[in-house]
Amino acid sequence: MKRNKTSVKNSRDPLSAEELTVLEAGMEHMQDDRSKLPPHDRSEHAHIWRFLRNHKLLCAVSILLALLLLAGLVVGVILLIHHLTAPTDTQLQEGDPITVTFFDRDPMEFDYDSLVKDGVFYIDMMTVADCLNLKISGTEHRLCFEGSDESRILFEHEKTYATINGFAVTISVPRIDNKETSPAPALVSAGSCLVPVSFMSEAVESGFSFKLNSETNTLRIRRVLTMVDNNKENAIPSPVLFTSDPFEEYIFPEEIDPTPRNPVYSIDISSYEKYILAEELLLVNKNNPLKSSHEPNDLSKLTCPTAKGKEYYLKKNAARALSAMMAAMKADGVTDVYVTSAYRSYARQEDLYDSYVQMHKNEGMSQAQAEKMASTYSARAGESEHQSGLCIDFTTNSMNGALETDFEDTDAFLWLSEHAWEYGFILRYPESEKKVAITGYDYEPWHYRFVGRAAAEEIDRRRLTLEEYLGKA
Ligand code: DAL
Ligand code: ZN
Repeated sequence: MKRNKTSVKNSRDPLSAEELTVLEAGMEHMQDDRSKLPPHDRSEHAHIWRFLRNHKLLCAVSILLALLLLAGLVVGVILLIHHLTAPTDTQLQEGDPITVTFFDRDPMEFDYDSLVKDGVFYIDMMTVADCLNLKISGTEHRLCFEGSDESRILFEHEKTYATINGFAVTISVPRIDNKETSPAPALVSAGSCLVPVSFMSEAVESGFSFKLNSETNTLRIRRVLTMVDNNKENAIPSPVLFTSDPFEEYIFPEEIDPTPRNPVYSIDISSYEKYILAEELLLVNKNNPLKSSHEPNDLSKLTCPTAKGKEYYLKKNAARALSAMMAAMKADGVTDVYVTSAYRSYARQEDLYDSYVQMHKNEGMSQAQAEKMASTYSARAGESEHQSGLCIDFTTNSMNGALETDFEDTDAFLWLSEHAWEYGFILRYPESEKKVAITGYDYEPWHYRFVGRAAAEEIDRRRLTLEEYLGKA
């Protein structure tokens, strides 16, 4: 780049030609390579930048150290959070015996393998119940424990849910082997009821506490006392209260087994088989009423256990199948069950329905409100399946002969849930809202309908209503 010599001369004292040449050469050099100029930017940024450029290695090492420190901090925080939130029963010493102290009893030592199953730490509810005077009821594979405040918890063998105060809740627990949380089954067999420790400790709202020392593999279960006043001597044990609050509702799986089952009878039913196999598919509901004159032509008096002082009738096939079913129940040890309702005439149903309506009117409802309410659980005359002579209502002495949904907590209900289809009977009014909308009636765990074994098997396996099975509304 050439400069204007005149302009340079004009701004300064005259220079010799030699001086001018030297100056021009210097200026051109400066234009070509400014990086070689002496430092002239004195700002802080420029200083830092120059320092960094001159100490590249030091900078790289420092950045690396800072990153390592940051990573260490992050890992530390994660480990701390994990430690604070990790469920205690994921920390057992694998293989070492486990000592459990139930309340004020002597410590009991258990093999690791007898309490840890499939990576889940269990305790035996039978011992807990014994220590706490919980009321135990049920059958070999289904046990219900009732606290002093009447709260109840029910376990079924190999089921990954428990029923707490009527709610089915998932038994979701942390596993010792992989520290993940997943559903685990209760293990209920004669004389023992193994339940995951972490689930039990959460299922109790107050009343007892579970403390696990993972270093010594010891578990202490204590009764918690509630202070009624400041005097310690007046402290009383808290009621044992099973709670369903913190639990996930158990969603029953929808998968249907596509394979029809063959029944396995516990008694010889060969003389009853032809009745059990008979098909009785009459549909009676709000949309399909019977005439007032309808009366089955083969009503047969029941010989099985019934409410005392009355005679009960069903159509012959249903009556014989029922005899076989109740004999099998008895043989299986279910003795507290009897029939409290069977065939009902049109007139009888009319009286019954009217009495319910009247009851609701006495409670202050209008005629329309009372009919609407009564119709959720009772059929109008003509619309009752009882007029068909194909259904019965069961009850028990333990329920004082009542028809309540508590029937589902009885041994009889459990047995019927497993075996009724084998004798051609179905649960006619299932519990779910979807089914209530189809049948038109609230859940009735006590009401069983005879349809014949083939239909009952399919209805039970595919969890259908009679309406769905027949494809009719
Ligand atoms: N409780 C049933 C629906 C009936 O009255 O037939
Ligand atoms: Zn009924």
